[in-house]
Amino acid sequence: MTKNIELQNKSLFQTQGFINGEWVDAQSKKTFIVTNPANDVPIAEVANMGAQETNQAIEAAEIAFQQWKLSPIKERYSLLMKWYQLIMDNQKDLATLMVVEQGKPYAEAAGEVIYAATFVQWFAEQGKRMNGVVKSAFSPNAELKYTKEPVGVVGIVTPWNFPLTMITRKVAPAIAAGCSVVVKPSELTPLSAFALAELAQQAGMPKGLINIIPTDDAASVGNALTASATVRKISFTGSTRVGKILMKQSADTVKRTSMELGGNAPFIVFDSADINTTIEALMASKFRNAGQTCVCANRILVQSKIYDEFVDSFIKKTQQLKVGNGLEEGVTIGPLINKQALEKVDTFVQNTLSKGAECLLGGKPHELGFTFFQPTILSNVPQDSPYNCEEIFGPVAPLIKFDTEEQGIAIANDTVHGLAAYFCSQDYRQINRVNQALRSGMIGINTGIFSNEFGPFGGVKESGIGREGSELGIEEYLDIKYSLLSFQ
Ligand code: SIN
Repeated sequence: MTKNIELQNKSLFQTQGFINGEWVDAQSKKTFIVTNPANDVPIAEVANMGAQETNQAIEAAEIAFQQWKLSPIKERYSLLMKWYQLIMDNQKDLATLMVVEQGKPYAEAAGEVIYAATFVQWFAEQGKRMNGVVKSAFSPNAELKYTKEPVGVVGIVTPWNFPLTMITRKVAPAIAAGCSVVVKPSELTPLSAFALAELAQQAGMPKGLINIIPTDDAASVGNALTASATVRKISFTGSTRVGKILMKQSADTVKRTSMELGGNAPFIVFDSADINTTIEALMASKFRNAGQTCVCANRILVQSKIYDEFVDSFIKKTQQLKVGNGLEEGVTIGPLINKQALEKVDTFVQNTLSKGAECLLGGKPHELGFTFFQPTILSNVPQDSPYNCEEIFGPVAPLIKFDTEEQGIAIANDTVHGLAAYFCSQDYRQINRVNQALRSGMIGINTGIFSNEFGPFGGVKESGIGREGSELGIEEYLDIKYSLLSFQ
């Protein structure tokens, strides 16, 4: 028995897959249950699809693509803008759905609805700027040009931590570029994906352009998407481990890939930092979404002279966080996504303490039970702690003390990942030096949040390939065609 979710716009609550413009059950009639991580209550019974439905969706997407690639850019613009407006108009319901399936506090969820919508608005505009180039000086008897064309059907695989944004950040540029998409959302948060598809349908999106395949068998849908020669591109956000599998599978049909993978973000506090700015930035970076983002500060490196003052302020600020159900007033830290996540975070903390770290705050599952974990600060974290190589994905802040700028940079760069890095300093020469020395796709300087539609989100090293957002995001969905026309 699933519990009803109170929504003003009832059409946003869907539980079937969305193929060729229709809500459909799995052919096997199989379903899976989505539960609220804050209380373990089942909230929806969702169609459990597989390879067969994925192939149907790919076929529908290919037919839709053949028409859509010819659509005038103004038509794409007005469709995307209608979708944008509908997302904004339904902000409260979308936020409520997100809180009950994902757990983040309501204010964060409402913020994510805007964050997600802005990518639709941004790429509606960017579609107008897909320029090719003519090299007029090449020869008086020839025209040399290159143009851009949509890649075709795109397979999109998204995670649970930003159930709306991780979809719009990929789907909006794909649609603006002239592509069609088959989306596999996380089995933990499919309801937000369905609501987005319903709003796209209400905006007038042609059938087959956006397809959603819910499943709790990610491998079967991933295999079908990567095996298909019709799918010309895979865009994935998730773990480095799964990203590598999708890249290997995509090699057989030489698909293009965009990979937004795991991080291990250092947050460096230099002696020259301003304490208030630093604490504000760190709180935002560390505790956003209960620490469950790929760009959350994973290792907090603090220079020795500022260390004691920093620790004092950080503990005081962290003690003010309110843990609870995201629908309750004033809650700033929601639950972790599920029991496995809680166990993983707990094991990390216990392992680190057993290696000699000290617990300054929290350190245990929260007394609220379910999947809540106490905001935690650990100090004297040894170099061989699991935090130095793995993502925590929880509200845990491990502190590492260092002496010189070179040491801080060396520890920060000592990772196979390179998604995000942060540092705080008020010394402009140091800011320039450290910004150059850090090997990371994105850097926050005196700030803990840099995610927005203007910036090119993405990593280097094992954190990924490609960029999302900015004027670069749409290029991920465009092929280049070079043509030389001789007049002789
Ligand atoms: C992520 O965790 O993958 C995305 C975070 C963001 O968009 O800021």
